[in-house]
Amino acid sequence: MESRLSLFPLNTEATQKGHLVIGGCDTVELAAEYGTPLYVYDELTLRNCCREFRNEFGQRYADTTVLYASKAFLNKAIANLLKEEGVGLDVVSAGELYIAKSVEFPMDMVYLHGNNKSVEELKMALKHHIARIVVDSYDELRTLAAMAEEGGHIPDILLRITPGVDAHTHSHITTGVTGSKFGFPIFDADEAVDRAMSAPSLNLIGLHFHIGSLISDVQPYKEAIDTVLDFAAGMRDQHGLELEELDIGGGFSVPYTMEDKVPEVSVYAEVIVSRVIRKCKQLDLPLPMLTIEPGRAIAARAGVALYQAGVIKNVPGLRKYVSLDGGMADNIRPALYDAKYVATVANRMQEGDTDKVTIAGRFCESGDILVRDIELPPVMAGDIIAIPGCGAYCLPLASNYNASLKPAVVMVTGGKARLIRRRETLKDLIADDLL
Ligand code: LLP
Repeated sequence: MESRLSLFPLNTEATQKGHLVIGGCDTVELAAEYGTPLYVYDELTLRNCCREFRNEFGQRYADTTVLYASKAFLNKAIANLLKEEGVGLDVVSAGELYIAKSVEFPMDMVYLHGNNKSVEELKMALKHHIARIVVDSYDELRTLAAMAEEGGHIPDILLRITPGVDAHTHSHITTGVTGSKFGFPIFDADEAVDRAMSAPSLNLIGLHFHIGSLISDVQPYKEAIDTVLDFAAGMRDQHGLELEELDIGGGFSVPYTMEDKVPEVSVYAEVIVSRVIRKCKQLDLPLPMLTIEPGRAIAARAGVALYQAGVIKNVPGLRKYVSLDGGMADNIRPALYDAKYVATVANRMQEGDTDKVTIAGRFCESGDILVRDIELPPVMAGDIIAIPGCGAYCLPLASNYNASLKPAVVMVTGGKARLIRRRETLKDLIADDLL
């Protein structure tokens, strides 16, 4: 049991009476006060992850910019914290940009991505003079050039290149392979550079790639860096492209179970930085600004989902189910990606793991299983189940399936909890309906 604690936020411990405590807050008390399902974010862990990326990359490569991939989870409180930590934002929609605006996030630290940005989104990006628009297609290049010409503001752009590198991750989250819907395939990107450079209303600053998510092997980063820098050198020779910025996207992995082997941030930093420096030297390219876009690796560990156990069902000879008051509506990842999680019983931390159970959600799908075959202390109805590693890609993918209510979210630090998103209400469910 002790070892599972390492998957929880930095500030996690068990009290003598066997309660799980995060950021100085007793999770059993949090569940009683705010209800369940409840998502708890530990402020120190979030800040620490931001600092780790800034320090590990920054000390090896001074000209590094860290952007947080908002899609992992963004709300006003998180955006505010990132602003305080000097981390920028990668946004992919008017919605994410709007959240950033709502806390006066510095727009010169915001990048807009997306394979099908709407005219409204491009307009919004131009209006707010955001730092970069990462152009993903010929259509977008054309539309943006025309809009910028009309609007009079020349945006700084990056071109997203698909390097044809397989990051060996789940097929749903692989994006670097040839044939991906994202970016310009590298064999068809010369023309994009040419057009971007000859458009007077656009300022081409550099290139971007993102090869996938949950990448636990550093090799694909090396291949993608080599491939894209080779391409940049070719473009310098052919079109006079001066690569001022190389944005290598995100994808840094985190452990979800004790079996997961994941490189430290320092290892990613060392491999990536040394590769960029070596390759640039080899190609006689000036060192570009380096941009990274971690999402999961900043948010995942900070977030813990708390649920209350309800029905316990024993299927004789087969398995025992512990059913929770949440499930796939707040965490679709096991159903969507076969994602693995562990759990603990937050009010029985001192008891031994003697019972093998499967943790099921409450939604009307057989696939709504959060954790299969895990050893826990014997669970009783009313117990609080805590699942670590829920800070990234759970809440943003949450739905109202079965007309369920999206969970409340609290931020904890120094023994204090504050609500950073209220629980949805039944009224919210019909607020947009018209008869
Ligand atoms: N940059 C770009 C352009 C991206 O598309 C993404 C993620 C990131 C950065 C951040 O990647 P990260 O560092 O978080 O791996 N819903 C999936 C993950 C989808 C990731 C999509 N793009 C999941 O739950 O595993």
